[in-house]
Amino acid sequence: MPGQCLNNRTAESRDLPVVVLKFGGSVMRNQADITRVVHEVYRWVRRGKRVVAVVSALEGTTDALIAQARAYADSPDSLHAGAYATLLATGEQTSAALLGLALDRAGVPVEVLDAASVSLRTSGTIVDGFPESIDATRILVTLSRVPVIVLPGFIGRDAEGRTTLLGRGGSDLTALFVAERLIAAGASETRCRLVKDVDGLYEFDPANGTDGERPRRFTHLHWDRALALDGGIVQHKAVRYAKEKGLSFEVGAALEDRATLVANTSESLDAAPGSDRTHRTRVTLLGCGTVGLGVYQHLIALPDLFDVVAVAVRDIGKAVASGVEPRLLTTDALEATDTDCDLVIETIGGVEIARHAIERALRTGKDVVTANKAVIATHGDELRAIAASTGTTLRYSAAVGGATPALEALAHAAELGDIVEIAGILNGTTNFVLGRVGEGESFSEAVRRAQAAGFAEQDASRDLDGRDAGDKLCVLAQEAWGVALDPSTIEREPISQESIGQSIKRRNAGHVIRHVAAVARASDGAISAEVRIRHVDANEPLGRVEREWNAITVRIATGETHTVFGRGAGRWPTAEAVLADVLEHATASRCPVSVTS
Ligand code: HSE
Repeated sequence: MPGQCLNNRTAESRDLPVVVLKFGGSVMRNQADITRVVHEVYRWVRRGKRVVAVVSALEGTTDALIAQARAYADSPDSLHAGAYATLLATGEQTSAALLGLALDRAGVPVEVLDAASVSLRTSGTIVDGFPESIDATRILVTLSRVPVIVLPGFIGRDAEGRTTLLGRGGSDLTALFVAERLIAAGASETRCRLVKDVDGLYEFDPANGTDGERPRRFTHLHWDRALALDGGIVQHKAVRYAKEKGLSFEVGAALEDRATLVANTSESLDAAPGSDRTHRTRVTLLGCGTVGLGVYQHLIALPDLFDVVAVAVRDIGKAVASGVEPRLLTTDALEATDTDCDLVIETIGGVEIARHAIERALRTGKDVVTANKAVIATHGDELRAIAASTGTTLRYSAAVGGATPALEALAHAAELGDIVEIAGILNGTTNFVLGRVGEGESFSEAVRRAQAAGFAEQDASRDLDGRDAGDKLCVLAQEAWGVALDPSTIEREPISQESIGQSIKRRNAGHVIRHVAAVARASDGAISAEVRIRHVDANEPLGRVEREWNAITVRIATGETHTVFGRGAGRWPTAEAVLADVLEHATASRCPVSVTS
């Protein structure tokens, strides 16, 4: 299941599909790169993986810290190894904390752990230690609650509890060690990928080729051959560890599927030299409001992948003031849609203009990504039919749940059994308002806050009366059962100062008030759907959802339930979900993959 199950059983947690991703300084050069790392982590979360993100210090940080230590001695590690290790460890701790903050902003549930909290014990010296043990159960139990753990690499603790280091490049070793220990603890569906600034290991460094000779990339490589390559890409100590433990691992770039598999395998190379990382997706963006501007900023921060060719907005002056390139701007959404491009991203909102633009794009051979639940709820069937007939694709994961991988959860649940019910907190604004009013704030002030934070729709009554959640139920019902539910037939109980006040009076101890949207299919195929105020046990998954977060529980015919959650509203969570669809488009448009999910 993607996202996260809120059950806490260790035995089940061993079945979790885990990927240990290691991000080194070469892909974490600065804070902008951290956003790219968030995209990479979320890409795996959407695929149903639990992620342990092991991070190095931001590029240059360790060298800068060593230089600082040198103010006190030429060989500071020999002067006071403990102080030196503690100083260098701040580099990894800082990048882990920053990645945790960035993931949280993007709406991805995350826990930032450290060497002490996972009991990563080392032997050897303080500055060149070797990992001996780790609390793998702690990691797996945490992953049964949240889909992502961030762990600083390179750092351990010795038997006395002192901070130790694993040697330069030691984060590679941390990642491989964590993966190996998780597998040993029974989490057999664990894999490890070292994310680098190259999309795999190459025959030789391109800088050393003679007569412009270009190296070919290995698709598969034996550990011994990896050890014969320059240790600058993967730490040799780490490769030796993997070989000794029989651990396979991948080396690849962020936002790419293809990678080199390093394992007990014979060597193979790509058929042709060079990489496939040359095609930039030409993108037209419709709408540059709360979500659209976030998407725009993500796209221009990935110039190696995307070329924004047009942006349609209502107010050109406002867009320019927000930093959008003036030459890209138009107020005509259809004109922008007709611009020569590969992909149209629709974030206009509303129904008619958005529907026309999506239809036009699909009919003219362009793929579409949209965050528009109202359009998909009311015209999803016809738009999907147009996409099928024109060989284009229509993606709309952001339409439900923001960064909550809701549609992906349905797809995975459907593999396990027939879906019989979907219940969730599908509107961030109402959940936010319920919380604030519960704390004593007035309803109107709470709504104003939700609007100011960018959670609410342009017409906030769509949030408060349940129409927005109703549209999302329609999208979910389409995905789960292929049925076109009419949004106007969904029973809705609006939230207001009065309805919340009455619910608070009736509430039993241990219960919280939630605006729950639910849709169920009976054995005769009849569908029932409603959005109403419910009293929910505070310990149940939906009871634990606070502020603008969303959660979706999917029940299959066996009675088994699975819950995923994430931030459901606001610029960055919704932009993250849109970008994930866009990246999926970009990956699918490139060459076939060699090592995939
Ligand atoms: N207004 C919506 C909400 C935005 O509050 O959930 C995300 O669809």
